[in-house]
Formats: sequence, C-alpha cells, structure tokens
Amino acid sequence: MGLVGAGFVGPHHIDAVRRLGFVDIVAVAGSSEASGTQKAHALGARKGYGSYQALIDDPDVHVVHNATPNHLHYEVTSAALRKGKHVVSDKPLAMTASESKKLVDEAKRAGVVTAVTFNYRGNPLVQHARQAIARGEIGTPRFVHGHYLQDWLLHETDYSWRLDPAKGGASSALGDIGSHWCDLAQHLTGLTITQVLGDVTTSIPKRKKPRGSREAFAPPSPEGFGGPGATATDAVDVVDITVEDLASVLVRFDNGAKGMFSVGQVCAGHKNDLVLEICGTTSSVRWRQEHQNELWWGHRERANEVLQKDPSLINEHGRPYAHLPGGHQEAWADAFCNLMRDIYRSIADGPPYRTLPPAVATFEDGYRANRIVEAILDSARQGGVWTQVS
Ligand SMILES: NC(=O)c1ccc[n+]([C@@H]2O[C@H](COP(=O)([O-])OP(=O)(O)OC[C@H]3O[C@@H](n4cnc5c(N)ncnc54)[C@H](O)[C@@H]3O)[C@@H](O)[C@H]2O)c1
Repeated sequence: MGLVGAGFVGPHHIDAVRRLGFVDIVAVAGSSEASGTQKAHALGARKGYGSYQALIDDPDVHVVHNATPNHLHYEVTSAALRKGKHVVSDKPLAMTASESKKLVDEAKRAGVVTAVTFNYRGNPLVQHARQAIARGEIGTPRFVHGHYLQDWLLHETDYSWRLDPAKGGASSALGDIGSHWCDLAQHLTGLTITQVLGDVTTSIPKRKKPRGSREAFAPPSPEGFGGPGATATDAVDVVDITVEDLASVLVRFDNGAKGMFSVGQVCAGHKNDLVLEICGTTSSVRWRQEHQNELWWGHRERANEVLQKDPSLINEHGRPYAHLPGGHQEAWADAFCNLMRDIYRSIADGPPYRTLPPAVATFEDGYRANRIVEAILDSARQGGVWTQVS
C-alpha cells in the first residue's frame, strides 16, 4: 500500500492495513519532500515521497489510500485510477457530487478494487443489526432518528481546513459527519434517502485562523489552548466562516419511512457522539458509536434488551467482524481494520475482483453521500423546503 496524506486519519489506514499481516507498507506521500520522508519514517513505511504523483508512479504501490483534505480527493484518486491502482478513498469520495460521479465512471473503466471508508459499517454490532433488520426483527422501519455531535469546533479559536470551502467543500458538519450518519442509516435499513429538508447554521461566523498550518485534531498546546486551532501565542487572522457547524435535517426514505437527525461540531461534551435509532413496526434498535459494544432493542410487549457484543451471541453477519470474546471491547480502529480485511482479501484474490461485502462502501455510495449533502444545502438555501435527492 501507499498512503497519500498522513495527518489524523492517514496513520489509521496504515495501522489497519499493517494488522492484516500480508500487506507491504511501501510508501507515504506528504505535502513536501521533508514531510513525506519524516512521516514514512514515523509510520514505518519504506519510502517517503514529496508528491502523490511520485507515489502513484512507484510500481511497488498497488493500492493507493487517499487521506488528503477533501479538495485533493478527486485529483489524487483520479490519478491513481489512471495508473490502474486500487484505491481506498477516505470520505467524502470527492468534494462535489459531480466530481464523485466522474470517479464512479473512472473506477468502472479502470476495473480495479475501489472503496470509501464509511468505517462505522465495519462494526460487528452494526452488521448484526443490519441483518436483523433485513430479517424483519423490528418489523418495517418507520422512523429513523439520531444525531452526530462533536465539540472540537466549539470556540472561535478552533479552526480547520474543513471550514474553508476551497479545501473542505460547500459543507462542514454535514459533509464531514452528516455523511457518515446518512450512510449508516441507509446501510442499516437497506433503504434510500429520497428527500430532505435542512435547517443549516453557522453558529460562529468569524473565527481566529492560526497563520501556521495545523493538522486536524492536533493535541492541545501545553497551555491547554487550541486543540484544532489557535494557541494563545499563535498569530491569527480573523476569517469569515460561510459553512455550517450545526444542522437539523428531516429525511424521507424510499419506503415512506420518516427520519430526522442533527449534526454539530459545536456541541460541548459531545466527542464523537453518533447515535442512530430505527423504530420499526414491532420493535426498535439503537446503536451508539461511543458505546459501540452495545445494541439496544426496544419492545412494547416485553422488557427492553441490551445485547453486548459477543461472537457467540451475534448473528452470522456480525460474527466475522468480531475478533474478541464477549466483554472484551472492540472499537473504532477495529471496525476500520475490518473494512481493510474485506478490501484486501478481494485484492489479494486477484482479477476478476469479486464484489466487496456490503460492509464496504462503494464509490456509488460515496457519490450518493455527496448528493444527499448537496440536497440538504439546496433545501436550506431555499428557506427549508423538501428537496429531492437527485
Ligand atoms: N473515516 C473517518 O472517520 C475519517 C476521520 C477523519 C478524517 N477523515 C477524512 O480523511 C481526510 C483527511 O482528514 P484528516 O482529519 O486526516 O486531516 P488532516 O489535516 O489531519 O490530514 C491531512 C494530511 O494531508 C496532508 N496533505 C495535504 N496536502 C497534501 C498533498 N498534496 N500531498 C500529500 N499530503 C498532503 C497534510 O499535510 C496532512 O498531513 C478528509 O477527507 C476527512 O474527511 C475520515
């Protein structure tokens, strides 16, 4: 594998692939020769490159992982496909739906293995719930609701490239984390979001942007300031923010089910608080990312239940994604590794590449995620009207 972009999430791609045990971690490309070399050394890759083109040109690199900021997703992925490389793209697949559509077509032409890391799908209890819902264990889904809330942009001194439309795209909270919620809602229910109504807010319209560059989720300075932004001593520019950091959305699904979710990056105390509940015609089921080893089942005629992750208690769809006995917690990085296992098994088997299991999001799924976010922004722009997902 070769990794382009080794900031916050890139190293987790390497960790996950390294755990498979049969993949050579060949190279890392950074934004400069110096950072490529330094990051390759730190992450135990054999080579460091100062440009993604050099990494893609390396004949030893068969699989390119794209973990760059959003504005580079299209060009890096497209260049890799042109060279016939397999691509694992972090989400969003591209910055706009039209770029994503091009990548869907380019990937088809390239005939390689491609995937987008909507990684919450890789959790064993998510796979268990998906199968249980498909078997009718909650009846027919009728109401899907939840939220994805974080607090890392709470202060006006918090800043990230995600807030700059030229680098992050037209959306911040919806594109970054709302896309995960929508993907998971559709994956769990097997339904498609067809219409949306969005109320979108920029709650901090001016922020202090540090003049130096900082990676997402960088640890706070020794003074305790900052996290992803300016420290007390940083030189800053005050910049206008146009993208949303908060949104509430009503959704309709193709079977007539209704839904609603909120996203926010300015909600104190919420770290990575993704919650999704599906109320069916007979029972309900809820999964919480921050308590991901538990699945709540709600009933009317009998007591509610909590299923703890345990390979001996979960169904045959969840079991391959669980690697530890009951009571041993599995988490974010394990779910990420599960996706890599599915993707690299297919690559290792060679052509003709078999269809990846449903736990792995495809480029089509990535394209759909862009279209949902764009429809929500359109809806909000029109003052909050029901808008078809194209
Ligand atoms: N799946 C998930 O749960 C998840 C989590 C976090 C981030 N992401 C996605 O991953 C991507 C990266 O996010 P992040 O939080 O790691 O950001 P980040 O800012 O921490 O890291 C981005 C890295 O890319 C590097 N980079 C910039 N330009 C480059 C270039 N031309 N060539 C090579 N490297 C370059 C930067 O120096 C930095 O190291 C985003 O698209 C984001 O949406 C996904």
